[in-house]
Amino acid sequence: MVTASAPGKVYLFGEHAVVYGEPAVPCAIGLRASVTAEERSAGMRIQASDLSLDGFTVEYDGEGRDHPDIDVPDTLVQAAMGYVDEAVTQVREAADAPEASFEITIESEIPLGAGLGSSAAVAAAAIEAGTRELGVEITPTEIAERAYRVENTVQDGQASRADTFCSTMGGAVRVEGDDCHSIESPDLPFVIGYDGGAGDTGALVAGVRERRKEYEFAADTIEAIGDVVRRGEQALTANDTEEIGNLMDFNHGLLSALGVSSRTLDSMVWAARNAGCLGAKLTGAGGGGCIVALDPTPETLTALEYTHGCEEAFRAELDTDGVRVES
Ligand code: MEV
Repeated sequence: MVTASAPGKVYLFGEHAVVYGEPAVPCAIGLRASVTAEERSAGMRIQASDLSLDGFTVEYDGEGRDHPDIDVPDTLVQAAMGYVDEAVTQVREAADAPEASFEITIESEIPLGAGLGSSAAVAAAAIEAGTRELGVEITPTEIAERAYRVENTVQDGQASRADTFCSTMGGAVRVEGDDCHSIESPDLPFVIGYDGGAGDTGALVAGVRERRKEYEFAADTIEAIGDVVRRGEQALTANDTEEIGNLMDFNHGLLSALGVSSRTLDSMVWAARNAGCLGAKLTGAGGGGCIVALDPTPETLTALEYTHGCEEAFRAELDTDGVRVES
């Protein structure tokens, strides 16, 4: 039996536009998903408990499932199980063991579908745990590649490498098309606000694709996000947190224009700005879930705790550890 874990992430800049080849800078944070894989003689069994959802448990045998008392849409639960199924396909391929079956147990501190990269973390950790359980060790680069294939399959060929590369490597990374590498980042004072909801990544990505096809100015908006990211990289190198914050605000406006924000995400962003944060934006696919703000003072955290629609607010640190074996 092997347990591996991988971190969630926030997007400092660039989600959605990264799907069209623009650069993005996600940063791993200290919330992790753990996956335990135990080989069994036949038949898959998957159990998941998402700690953020108070004992959400799913038992899934490839056909049916049982999830008492949770308010996550069925489609999300199915998507989560889809990531695990695809990760197992990657494990079988990497270990050249097409018949291998597992009992998989997932424990995650990362809320499902909330923009903090839960699916990428589960995919990376499942690939690491499954291959090690079969006595095969693969490189982080191969884990990132296989975790990307998982996301790309589940998201109907509409995924970037950003989430999976970041979760596998940890720290801050830069992704532009197939070019992925780790970058230096100062310690950034992240504050996260979570509205308790979730967005459907596949549907949100498809919505942006439609708008981009229909309106030239939507395509321009995506290119403008790329420009924001390039300026953001300069600000990161210069350790200019004020400019990083300004650019996060800009990035949020452009994501709103693409239709992926929501009333609660906007309320949390404005509550953070009114509290004097350096900048705030939604993170991930949007539609609900989380915002990320920069604030070294306690003000934003306190303001978010009192914001209608914000279920939870917490600080998060950059986590330089990517996927790792726990036991
Ligand atoms: C989702 O976490 C990030 C998106 O850019 C999709 C992707 O990059 O695959 C919206």
